[in-house]
Amino acid sequence: MYHIMAIDQGTTSSRAIIFDAAMKPVATGQQEFRQIFPDSGWVEHDAEEIWSTTAATCRAALERGGLKPDDLAAVGITNQRETVVVWDRKTGKPVHNAIVWQDRRTAARCAALKAEGLEPMVTEKTGLLLDPYFSATKLAWILDEVEGARARAAAGDLAFGTIDCFLIWRLTGGAVHATDATNAARTMLYNIREGRWDADLLRLLDIPEAMLPEVRDSAADFGTTRPDLFGRPVPILGVAGDQQAATVGQACFAPGMMKSTYGTGCFALLNTGDEAVTSKNRLLTTIAYQIDGSPTYALEGSIFIAGAVVQWLRDGLKIIREASETQGLAEQADPNQRVYLVPAFTGLGAPYWDAECRGAIYGLTRNSGPAELARAALESVGYQTRDLLEAMHRDWTAPSETVLRVDGGMVASDWTMQHLADQLGAPVDRPRVAETTALGAAWLAGMRAGLYPGMAEFAAQWALDRQFEPLMDANVRESAYDGWKDAVRRTLSG
Ligand code: G3P
Repeated sequence: MYHIMAIDQGTTSSRAIIFDAAMKPVATGQQEFRQIFPDSGWVEHDAEEIWSTTAATCRAALERGGLKPDDLAAVGITNQRETVVVWDRKTGKPVHNAIVWQDRRTAARCAALKAEGLEPMVTEKTGLLLDPYFSATKLAWILDEVEGARARAAAGDLAFGTIDCFLIWRLTGGAVHATDATNAARTMLYNIREGRWDADLLRLLDIPEAMLPEVRDSAADFGTTRPDLFGRPVPILGVAGDQQAATVGQACFAPGMMKSTYGTGCFALLNTGDEAVTSKNRLLTTIAYQIDGSPTYALEGSIFIAGAVVQWLRDGLKIIREASETQGLAEQADPNQRVYLVPAFTGLGAPYWDAECRGAIYGLTRNSGPAELARAALESVGYQTRDLLEAMHRDWTAPSETVLRVDGGMVASDWTMQHLADQLGAPVDRPRVAETTALGAAWLAGMRAGLYPGMAEFAAQWALDRQFEPLMDANVRESAYDGWKDAVRRTLSG
């Protein structure tokens, strides 16, 4: 029993990664699943596919590692956050497709609540903004649109959960209906200062309390897996939303430490310790992790499209076959062309929060081609990160020596990381272990199981792969960024 299995249920694929006693990844299973786009700005997942791909990848990882269920000490779960599932407690069947965090269908509802002047109250309680990104209005939409759902929820027949919670329910055969504080913090129903579901917010959106899960620490007992799933019950001992798990995996445990993860979107989190800092620059206040009953808070900047822009080059424009071709193409771009791509495919997140605007490209000439588009796509990731970090530095003035730690699929591209360091005018650190999200979930579970070391020792093991130093001339950097800000200004809806 010297291995930990981390389930990483992401926006585009389900993965299971098994770590050995030395916290080294030894086997992986991965499966993509369908993205369902029923309308402009709407994004759904079939929760049954989320479950079936998760279960299959767990089994595949065990098989690939030549491991038996007896080799597993515990399971940790990390997940795409905010995505909403509502299911029948008796049958376990979802009553609607999962509504994904990217989905904008509740933009009008959020705008109406904002017009009533409710945003300051929502922010004070939850640390979030009144945006369709978060679970609350998506959940209310399901209760409004699925016939009889609200009455069934009030009678205790329906359960609500983010993806972690749905997976815990399925893994434990319906024995446990629980989530962790980091996932609860993304629902817009959880009071992050008081550590409980907030009665005022539940009333505001008419959400029956009976359907809500119990909120536990990120390293806690979440029950055991159904014996028939892996051949033996395995305890689930760690749960965190994927961005929070990456913060843990990057060992950003001290206030002032910061990480940025490049998956479908890009999410930067700055540890603010036991202080829930309220942003004056449209960033979010969230729970980074909760251990032994004490929450550690973070400021978060959320960008909806980062890696997804490369997916669009591949699947939408079809100018590349593999994501890894993007860098080579970007390197061939004409240095004299200034093409900007604002990837507002589902609106813009922090610090703009514009749910209605859509993507745009500026500066095209007759000489612009795939190379210029590829470069503009990769550059948009650096510019958006700079937007976030500038806002963070305005909110967090405490002196900090820490550089940005980066992770996620896109950081494999040296070109993108160099552009990021150039745009930030500051170093960017890429760690040796690229699987930081899964590692974070594995560490939470392994530490709770007594297999992995405590926080300080874990942090001491963080190792650098490469530091990217800024090389760009300051004038060039500022004029490029001015062009980006102008492109965003022209894209915003209001
Ligand atoms: O808030 C959404 C986030 O958790 C999704 O992460 O890695 O699937 O882009 P990812």
